[in-house]
Amino acid sequence: MWLLAGLLPKKLRHTREVRIFHWVLAGSYFLLFYTGLHISHPGRFPFPRMRLARLGHFTGQFAFLGALFWRIHNGIKTGNYREILPGGETLAKTPAYLRYEVFLTSRAPGFPKYNPFQKFLYTLWVPLFLMLGVTGSVLYIPQKLAPLERAFGGLNRVRRLHYLFSLASFGTVAGHLYFALTSGTETLKSIFTGCKARGKK
Ligand code: HEM
Ligand code: HEM
Repeated sequence: MWLLAGLLPKKLRHTREVRIFHWVLAGSYFLLFYTGLHISHPGRFPFPRMRLARLGHFTGQFAFLGALFWRIHNGIKTGNYREILPGGETLAKTPAYLRYEVFLTSRAPGFPKYNPFQKFLYTLWVPLFLMLGVTGSVLYIPQKLAPLERAFGGLNRVRRLHYLFSLASFGTVAGHLYFALTSGTETLKSIFTGCKARGKK
């Protein structure tokens, strides 16, 4: 079957820019998550050196926030944010999609691109990732961002919030991986190659 899929006409699903964005965001996310866990619990999550973990976290934040801002800008410029933001049609089709996901029906409702849950996740990530950036920046330069630090209720509260946001983000990334790995080989391949065979999952 996969041999036949190679012969089917292909359709561009992800531009090269979006694929680069995806792997920069995903790579820097895993780096930030693991180095963050080491900073928080050095005994439980081993890393060669604390200094190296902090340097990794510091470097990763620029790639992560840079990729995020680029994607927001690109989505607005090209108008493809419409493929991501859940609109009325997405909300109307969500119950039918939920029935498909819990195996009550074998027919998935059709969508122009992303399924409703992926759309909810991508949309939720914008404020969640920005809050990671804001709380993380207060941790790095508390003197310069003193008004923000006070607004959050002190540095310790900011640290706890940053930690909580990072755990929440990990839950949502796990959800994303579930949908990415169960959406069919052609869809999975498309985030590497950009293209997807027409009429295949
Ligand atoms: C987006 C930009 C980010 C910035 C500016 C940032 C910044 C920081 C800073 C300054 C620290 C304290 C480091 C130290 O004490 O040396 C920290 C700790 C941490 N970061 Fe980030 N970070 C960011 C993103 C993330 C992400 C995406 C995650 C995980 C998904 C994450 C997870 C953590 C964790 C778990 C800690 C340890 C918190 C603790 O002290 O218990 N960070 N971060
Ligand atoms: C090894 C881990 C990962 C795999 C295999 C993976 C796989 C995928 C796939 C297959 C798609 C396209 C879905 C489709 O066309 O229907 C996708 C899209 C996406 N993924 Fe991932 N992903 C991974 C990690 C991550 C992480 C960690 C993040 C965020 C921190 C992320 C953020 C996104 C975003 C934002 C999109 C939408 C692309 C766009 O239109 O901008 N991914 N991913």
